[in-house]
Amino acid sequence: MMKAVITPVRQLIGETAVPGDKSISHRGVMLGAIAKGTTRLSHFLAGEDCLNTIKAFQGMGIDIRMENIEKEQGGTVLIHGKGLHGLKKPAGVIDVGNSGTTARLLSGILAGQPFSSTITGDESMRKRPMARVIEPLSRMGADIRLAAGNTLPLTIQGGRLKGMEYDMPVASAQVKSAIILAALYADSPVVLRQPARSRNHTEVMLRHFGGRVDEKGKAVTAFPAEELYGQDIQIPGDISSAAFFITAGLLVPDSRIIMKGVGINPTRTGIVDVYKQMGAKVRIENINSSYGEPAGDIIAEYSTLSPVDISGSIIPRLIDEIPVIALAATQAHGTTVIRDAAELKVKESNRIDMIVRTLRALGADIRAADDGMIIHGPTPLTGSIVTCRMDHRIAMMSAIAGLIAEGETVITDGEWVDISFPGFFEIIQNLRS
Ligand code: S3P
Repeated sequence: MMKAVITPVRQLIGETAVPGDKSISHRGVMLGAIAKGTTRLSHFLAGEDCLNTIKAFQGMGIDIRMENIEKEQGGTVLIHGKGLHGLKKPAGVIDVGNSGTTARLLSGILAGQPFSSTITGDESMRKRPMARVIEPLSRMGADIRLAAGNTLPLTIQGGRLKGMEYDMPVASAQVKSAIILAALYADSPVVLRQPARSRNHTEVMLRHFGGRVDEKGKAVTAFPAEELYGQDIQIPGDISSAAFFITAGLLVPDSRIIMKGVGINPTRTGIVDVYKQMGAKVRIENINSSYGEPAGDIIAEYSTLSPVDISGSIIPRLIDEIPVIALAATQAHGTTVIRDAAELKVKESNRIDMIVRTLRALGADIRAADDGMIIHGPTPLTGSIVTCRMDHRIAMMSAIAGLIAEGETVITDGEWVDISFPGFFEIIQNLRS
């Protein structure tokens, strides 16, 4: 275990890039593998989760090479795709490690393959719900079996699939993407209705690869495909990683942090909207767009924060940022309420429980609710010894809290940041002035 010790900082000034977007990196490997020809992914996230996606497809006979990969900066990934029907039955069990995105999206692709395969994951992943993807994929005609209950390991015998109309019970981009990927192998389109709009990186990228997916409000129609074609993709920085430094910029006095080239797809920018509502000095500049995925520089400055109510359709637009938003709320002047976020309970940890437990250990006034949390601020924070329990975002939330806490904050298992943000601690070091 890697013990990370964080001490308070007087000011954070500087400019930094953040690693490539995790959601987009996964999708690039998956679509590249089932497209014809070469796909080149630049600024690929070399985090453990995305490396597990690469391994899964290498195990199904796809030639995937990493060029100049540096763990911290990422690098370029070259995929020699073999087309929609080019995957081989894997020799052994596919281990997705900690990665829910790999497990769910891969299930969608495997549902369309004429072989049987088994997916498992690490201890955290083997607690996360899989019925949400199995139910719709089974309806489309896949034969999926779970060893026990609702969790991994699962075995999929895929094949010819049918189109369907489906009302999704949860707003989940992972479930939606699994169904869209399975629809590539169906005999007719799939019509999906989401309770709220979730990130649409699969839809955007699939169109770029020559597939057809229509989006209309909360409805998505996914079409079967004859063939997809490999593409060059420039992956923007991950706003979910930038979120930690946006928050640090707002909370540490006299700070100003510029994050370059961050993805700002509107299905992901809920945190910017919420921070603006809280009165934060945060803005986006130099906006550009590549194949339909916008990116820009995010500038965050030290701010006096007001409390906010967060609920409803904004939740999927900031679901992964709730740990660090909760931290920001501990410094806002008043009561912040987060609701409609029960999904947090089935992330890499039970995040309602872990956010509340960890921020309380650091001195915050925060209480769990059934589907969210209630935070009274501002409260001074005090360093403590905390554990992230296999949850990378809890580790990073604790580290940012440590920058404004009095004394030392010790994260006993800091190595978990490598899941999504290799180089996280080095960036903190470089921004200290
Ligand atoms: C993701 C979707 C979200 C998010 C996860 C990545 C994706 O999960 O929390 O980190 O890449 O599709 P859900 O779709 O389960 O909400």
